Amino acid sequence: MGRKAVIAGNWKMNCTWASSVRLAQRISDCCDKKYPDIDIILCPPFTYIKGVANVFSFDRSDIQLGAQNVYEEMPEGIAAATGQVSVEMLKDLECSYCIVGHSECRQHNGESDELVARKVKLLLEHGIIPIICCGESLEVNKAGGTVEFVSGQIRTALEGLSATDVAKSIIAYEPIWAIGTGEVPIPEKIDAICAAIRGLVREMFGSEVAEAVRILYGGSLKPANAHQILPLENVDGGLIGGASLDAEDFHDIVKSAKELMKR
Ligand code: 13P
Repeated sequence: MGRKAVIAGNWKMNCTWASSVRLAQRISDCCDKKYPDIDIILCPPFTYIKGVANVFSFDRSDIQLGAQNVYEEMPEGIAAATGQVSVEMLKDLECSYCIVGHSECRQHNGESDELVARKVKLLLEHGIIPIICCGESLEVNKAGGTVEFVSGQIRTALEGLSATDVAKSIIAYEPIWAIGTGEVPIPEKIDAICAAIRGLVREMFGSEVAEAVRILYGGSLKPANAHQILPLENVDGGLIGGASLDAEDFHDIVKSAKELMKR
């Protein structure tokens, strides 16, 4: 197979400047340069990216940086987009990745599939790898519509991209009802949904791209359940919220990935 595992932390709207630097330092102390087979990525709030980048640069760390969102356009000249953060700004902050389409952004900011698709395209044009989130509500899940729903989200996000761009992108399956709730789908379900997403990528871009694209699971992924989720055939890692705010928990998940994910 040859897909490199990914363990990404999404800090969401947490920390202060001081606590973000402390947390980054703790994570660097336990994870830096010990896991060459895993892409370890931290996505702090915009305001703390530089502080975290300074920690990693001082340590010459191999931990990588991501943002949690980006504005969908990169206008020429004066950019009339109050309160937004551009793709060029993320590059300036040494972000190699950016989360897009997180269910919290879709819900709170009304981000549509089409808007998410514009962000994905823009990021790839600027050399930043998108971590494209998808995931269904409890109602959709209960009605048995998960595959159809997430396939619709991912189809729109990927439509019109080149095979090369899709192959380097990351997709994260995050059922909304599992985020921050302690509820997790049974492992067979997680694998089946991730397999369906890979199947969609195969249908759209062919087998080579489907085998290359990395698909993560997110939603109450913790040290206690990582051993059930990370070895799944179609799961290439995790997008971790709450547990990424604790250096030991985050490291435990990274350790599980090393032990369990033979790719
Ligand atoms: P939790 O791990 O806190 O459930 O959050 C998952 C998530 O939304 C990551 O993007």
